[in-house]
Amino acid sequence: MSHPAPARTRVAIIGAGPAGLLLGHLLHRKGVDTVILENRDRPYVERRQRAGILEQGTVDVLRATGAAAGMDARGLPHDGIELRFAGESHRIDFPALCGRSVMVYAQTEVVKDLIALRLEAGAPLLFEAEALNVTGIEGDAPQVRYRYEGEEHTLTAEYVVACDGFHGVGRRAVPDAARRTFERVYPFSWLGVLADVPPSCDELIYAHSPAGFALHSMRSPEVSRLYVQVPPDADLADWPDERIWEALSDRFALDGWKLGTGPITEKSVTPMRSFVTEPMRHGRLFLAGDAAHIVPPTGAKGLNLAAADVTLLASALLHRFATGDESRLDSYSEDALARVWRAEHFSYTMTSLLHTSPEDDPFGHRLQLAHLRYLVSSEAAATSLAENYTGLPLPGLDALV
Ligand code: APR
Ligand code: PHB
Repeated sequence: MSHPAPARTRVAIIGAGPAGLLLGHLLHRKGVDTVILENRDRPYVERRQRAGILEQGTVDVLRATGAAAGMDARGLPHDGIELRFAGESHRIDFPALCGRSVMVYAQTEVVKDLIALRLEAGAPLLFEAEALNVTGIEGDAPQVRYRYEGEEHTLTAEYVVACDGFHGVGRRAVPDAARRTFERVYPFSWLGVLADVPPSCDELIYAHSPAGFALHSMRSPEVSRLYVQVPPDADLADWPDERIWEALSDRFALDGWKLGTGPITEKSVTPMRSFVTEPMRHGRLFLAGDAAHIVPPTGAKGLNLAAADVTLLASALLHRFATGDESRLDSYSEDALARVWRAEHFSYTMTSLLHTSPEDDPFGHRLQLAHLRYLVSSEAAATSLAENYTGLPLPGLDALV
């Protein structure tokens, strides 16, 4: 459906990934005018394969705001994960340790559900609308210049939120002198596949092996999602299906357990990076989700951090619109970054714990095994893992219901 190109709104949102779509949803249902500009077309956005674990807090916000029908129909509630290493397997029981759990429901499904809700509500969501730049963020009428149906337009707003991912234009509007970035690039990538085969496990398996990391996840009772650690410059042409299945079987190897195989329907390589930009606000521009921070996927925090950012931001914006008080917008960056850095630390720790690195020495390998043994034998250590994996409660949710 094509929209007239809008010129004014209260909150201009760049990007229709989970961050932009959820923010649009939270504000629209409270009567705030928003426009979402998305560079790509709808089929591309709906087909993009990403992670698939929703923290308890992400589940809560979708349920509390009427966006959970798909998740409740097709999501798979999970109460634990398996850690596999040194030929042993150990379960981490989330509810027993921390009273919370997670939902296996693909990010791409969350995106499809939110797009359908927005279009049903008749709220503006423009596909193939590329934001070119953001200006005037130090004044009170910031503008987004964008290209839509072959022409350039200007969208003037009270606030602009850049939810345009790591490669977006939003972050670039913050003057260099006003921001600082922090980054780690890892010497490995993940090769991820979707396969038409029932999962060989009831819960996700995170496997540490001398040959490298592997993860067994799932999308449904019929579809498995699997990942294998590969070198950073890995070329898919070097990874025919048989080689992938061999690597996976080798890394998950456990007496009495067998990995089921089936046709691979999708393959891709994801580089691993940690990245944070501070602050997450400059004037009337706010950053949320991957536009502000990236985590490596071990621990599945990317989507959940995006959901946490926009939940916090939506409640701060609603408070500002209802009362004129800007104090919660003023503390957005600091409040969001506290959670971001917790997730950065957790994702970094999980990544370092489970992958083999070209820089590793036997000492490092022994440290990994010692840490893994500690996680599965100390209730205190396992509780910390469970608490981080299932996520801390979301701030700001009450105001959005
Ligand atoms: N104009 C309009 N849209 C843009 C522009 C632009 N100039 N640049 C990027 N976009 C769009 C992208 O096409 C994409 O749809 O912004 C969207 C950003 O979405 P995501 O990359 O999914 O980021 P986010 O919504 O923050 O979600 C974070 O997604 O990347 C994963 O692992 C990450 O799970 C995490 C989650
Ligand atoms: C996924 O299902 O895609 C997934 C699950 C857990 C992770 C990362 C990805 O840690």
